[in-house]
Amino acid sequence: MNKINVITIDGPSASGKGSLAREIAKIYNLSILDSGSLYRLYAYFAQEGMKSELISNVIQENIEFKLCDQDMIIMNVDKDITDDLRSENIAAFASELSSNREVRNALFDLQRSFYTEKGLVADGRDMGTVVFRDAKLKIYLTASAEVRAKRRYLELQNRGQEVNMPALIVDIEQRDLKDSSRELSPLLPADDAHIIDSSEMSLEEVICYTKNLIKEEYL
Ligand code: C5P
Repeated sequence: MNKINVITIDGPSASGKGSLAREIAKIYNLSILDSGSLYRLYAYFAQEGMKSELISNVIQENIEFKLCDQDMIIMNVDKDITDDLRSENIAAFASELSSNREVRNALFDLQRSFYTEKGLVADGRDMGTVVFRDAKLKIYLTASAEVRAKRRYLELQNRGQEVNMPALIVDIEQRDLKDSSRELSPLLPADDAHIIDSSEMSLEEVICYTKNLIKEEYL
């Protein structure tokens, strides 16, 4: 098999991008970028009152991403802030900030710096269209809003957070609309992306489908 450079996985919230990216990173021993976490971190530090020009440096210097079993743990120096970042409140603020050009520019180089010799799997909204537009394999992973809300419900419940299903569907739909209708780097599949609708697929089926795409692209 030829060396994998970058695999991008874009799509709307709770479409399973993160789980797919983590599995693909493990199987092919790739570095991983969860770009949504960077936007959430930006929102987290902005909410704490940090000056915007400092945030991307603080992320670079103080934040550590640890891949553990099925999850990505995010440490701020020695404090685990994964649960704080996963709240719908931070997600909504991240989505609001992400339409700002300064914020996107501040995170651009940081996202590119996740590329290593090992190769990279990067998930987000604009990985295939903007940040790694030269990636050889691009995936756009989607699913119906109901299916995605159910997945997010289970994820938040597992983290011990209180969730209200109807409100969650509304939150997800609003965030998708905002992300796909914004002027800068809107959520949309790259022209050369493979679109996977996972509404009726298990994670294992999506992984298997992706492994076949990787074989076709890199053999
Ligand atoms: O993927 P996640 O839900 O963690 O992303 C949180 C928010 O960050 C998204 O709703 C989106 O507004 C923003 N985002 C973005 N571009 C990316 C990744 C995330 O604008 N590449």
